[in-house]
Amino acid sequence: MRIVVRSSLITLLLAFIVIQFFQPEKNSEEVSSNHIFKQVEVPENIQTLLTNACLDCHSNHTNYWWYNHIAPVSWMVDNHITEGKSELNFSDWGTMDIFEKITILEEICQEAERKSMPLKSYRAIHPQAKLSDQQIAELCDWTTKLAEELLAKAAGE
Ligand code: HEC
Repeated sequence: MRIVVRSSLITLLLAFIVIQFFQPEKNSEEVSSNHIFKQVEVPENIQTLLTNACLDCHSNHTNYWWYNHIAPVSWMVDNHITEGKSELNFSDWGTMDIFEKITILEEICQEAERKSMPLKSYRAIHPQAKLSDQQIAELCDWTTKLAEELLAKAAGE
């Protein structure tokens, strides 16, 4: 019996070691000129909020923690980043048209108000990503204001 336990532990350990060789590509490109922070004058409190709570999954640059590099955690993280970026990539802000921007700004506020963003699993391990009601209100003030500016610009064109 002992031998069985020992050999399955060894098998598990080997499997764990082997999967470490299958790592997703890192999400760490240079900040492009299309990044929202280069395109729009984002107030400092909102920059901090987006950086702490959103950009890890919604930009081309993730701040990895050591355990993010360990499979299978690294696969889960990569999955969130790929899916998150396909919905909204702040690094590509400059490539979006005005109406895409207005729509996504509304969604940003909605997702934060519903507490569906940032993802629960992320909030659980990133205390800074837990948004207070005040932070959510600040985020929504900002998205509303920016959307109104964009709309005014579209109307003026
Ligand atoms: C841990 C990764 C992660 C973080 C952090 C994160 N998101 Fe997301 N986000 C996702 C994923 C994955 C999706 C696509 C699946 C879904 O909607 O649940 C998504 C989808 C979205 C969408 C599109 C929703 C829809 O259904 O159309 C918006 C808007 C969004 N996120 C905004 C935010 C904002 C704002 C923050 C920060 C306050 C944030 N996200 C933080 C992973 C993340």
